[in-house]
Amino acid sequence: MVDQALLDEFLGKVMTDVGAAFSQRLVYVGDKLGLYKAMAGAGPITPAELANRTGTAERYVREWLANQTAAGYVTHDDGTFTLSDEAALVFADETSPAFVAGLAQVLASTYKDEAELTARFRTGEGLGWHEHDADLYDATERLFRPGYLANLVDSWLPALDGVVAKLEAGATVADVGCGHGVSTIVMAQAFPRSRFVGFDYHDASIDRARKLAAEAGVADRVTFEVASAKDYRGAGYDLVAFFDCLHDMGDPVGAARHVLSTLAPDGTWLVVEPFANDSLDDNAGPVAQVFYAASTLVCTPASLSQEVGLALGAQAGEAALREVVTQGGFTRYRRATETPFNLVLEAKP
Ligand SMILES: C[S@@+](CC[C@H](N)C(=O)[O-])C[C@H]1O[C@@H](n2cnc3c(N)ncnc32)[C@H](O)[C@@H]1O
Repeated sequence: MVDQALLDEFLGKVMTDVGAAFSQRLVYVGDKLGLYKAMAGAGPITPAELANRTGTAERYVREWLANQTAAGYVTHDDGTFTLSDEAALVFADETSPAFVAGLAQVLASTYKDEAELTARFRTGEGLGWHEHDADLYDATERLFRPGYLANLVDSWLPALDGVVAKLEAGATVADVGCGHGVSTIVMAQAFPRSRFVGFDYHDASIDRARKLAAEAGVADRVTFEVASAKDYRGAGYDLVAFFDCLHDMGDPVGAARHVLSTLAPDGTWLVVEPFANDSLDDNAGPVAQVFYAASTLVCTPASLSQEVGLALGAQAGEAALREVVTQGGFTRYRRATETPFNLVLEAKP
């Protein structure tokens, strides 16, 4: 017997999600067209003014603004629309810790890859990080940059045992699975006496990282190389960092062993992973919903595409991560700190 009240409640929840999903598609459109940036700080603006400032068509912009109003992202008054200062931090300011427009871009990239991903559900094969639509790489850079700017130098590195003093004096650092190298560059800007090398197996990401390092003026102390986590070169690193990539690897235990072989005797392995509790039941809510979706669509296929294919998932939780670290041969391990979105783990030989 169907309980009508429960059905109504459930339908209401699903419609909330569907509405959010549609609006996120339009966040992507507004982001690409510069609509949020044009509204930021502009005060009340008409659709015609916004269209004029962004080189877009008024009728489309008016309908977009209606959706954004219904979503609660902008406010409406007498034919004008306003993006609040708070909403501007979320949608327009790429350096704000609250900036999440990159997430709408990640979402958009998964729509482009949907047919491939659905096919993999049938075959069980992986889909490598390098096989995705290019939007994913740009989106990842934009999504993670605010977190690195806000946390890396001020919170995560100081939470490690003695690492900041070494970086200030001049240390050697490997940033493995560095993607576009944003984390590498942020560290290099803060610690000019240290030397940094970023490694990633994805050659297009390494090309982009080199370009960003040159633009940031740190190319004298940062290099980038195409290499996997199990064969990157060098030895005696004071710090090896893995930012949001261990769970994407097919053989994280093999990677851990290689890290151990490349660290100085008193070196540090920094592993930053998406925040998660150990059990599915403890990971409820919208953030876990997003992480599990990204894990299904990107991270788990990435790991399954590589040797071993351990497929930790983006919500592995600390117990599973600790297992990887100890199986890799590390004897000392602790949770150095955490943020709402990240676990920050420290391992030492
Ligand atoms: C989610 S992205 C994170 C990138 C970067 N660390 C950041 O925070 O922006 C995961 C990265 O891991 C890289 N990756 C995956 N498997 C790898 C492997 N076995 N060796 C090296 N890099 C790998 C991917 O190419 C991708 O750049």
